[in-house]
Amino acid sequence: MSDMPEKFINEEGLRLDGRQVNELRPLKIEVGVLKRADGSCYLELGQNKVVAAVYGPREIHPRHLQNAMETVVRYRYNMASFSVDERKRPGPDRRGVEVSKVSREAIGPVVLKEYYPRSSIDIFVEVLQADAGTRTAGINAASVALADAGIPMKGLVSSCAVGKVDDTLVLDLMKEEDNYGQADMPIAMVAKEDKITLLQMDGHLTNDEFKKGLEMAISGCKKIYEVQKKALIDAYS
Ligand code: CDP
Repeated sequence: MSDMPEKFINEEGLRLDGRQVNELRPLKIEVGVLKRADGSCYLELGQNKVVAAVYGPREIHPRHLQNAMETVVRYRYNMASFSVDERKRPGPDRRGVEVSKVSREAIGPVVLKEYYPRSSIDIFVEVLQADAGTRTAGINAASVALADAGIPMKGLVSSCAVGKVDDTLVLDLMKEEDNYGQADMPIAMVAKEDKITLLQMDGHLTNDEFKKGLEMAISGCKKIYEVQKKALIDAYS
């Protein structure tokens, strides 16, 4: 805990990286960055750098996983060993399995799965550089990559976190705020339908903070949705 900041918010109400409490980190989205994937996206959210690749619909392996009624959506989140300060051991770990599962459940509901029975749609998210909020960055990138692959969807999924530092709610936590803050609540939603598909909570918020924080996170997701939409429109026009 040696590099824990004394204060997260200064007298002017600004955070360690100079942001307002309800401000997202700079977001950059590039569509179609990988030649061999059916759909792909490179995304930067502050210091986070992630790539999402989508393959499919394609024949599912192993075959016994196939579903006669609909496609199977698979999601693998992976953090590169060089993406964090302390080298991460390569390969799957408990955290990766958890993030993959919740991300798949966050994205799955928008895919029109009945269009492609007996197939799979495989989503791979590789975190190249991590600075908190990598699951939210990954979900945002995966959603754009799915659209780039031409997968029929009800809408794009957008994701961001809200948290608490110095007893104050803040949007889109950076690493220090995530590691040493009082709460972290990532959400994902279908922004155009106001439907939440992921809500996790680490730490503690009062009922009022929860309600206000949820509103903040929803407005963050709606801003991200606009950037996702613009990136796709720009890529195809
Ligand atoms: O990245 P996200 O906020 O979705 O997940 P987390 O489990 O709350 O992790 C927060 C942050 O801790 C990550 O984004 C990384 O910056 C950092 N971390 C790390 O340094 N080493 C790990 N093995 C895992 C996470």
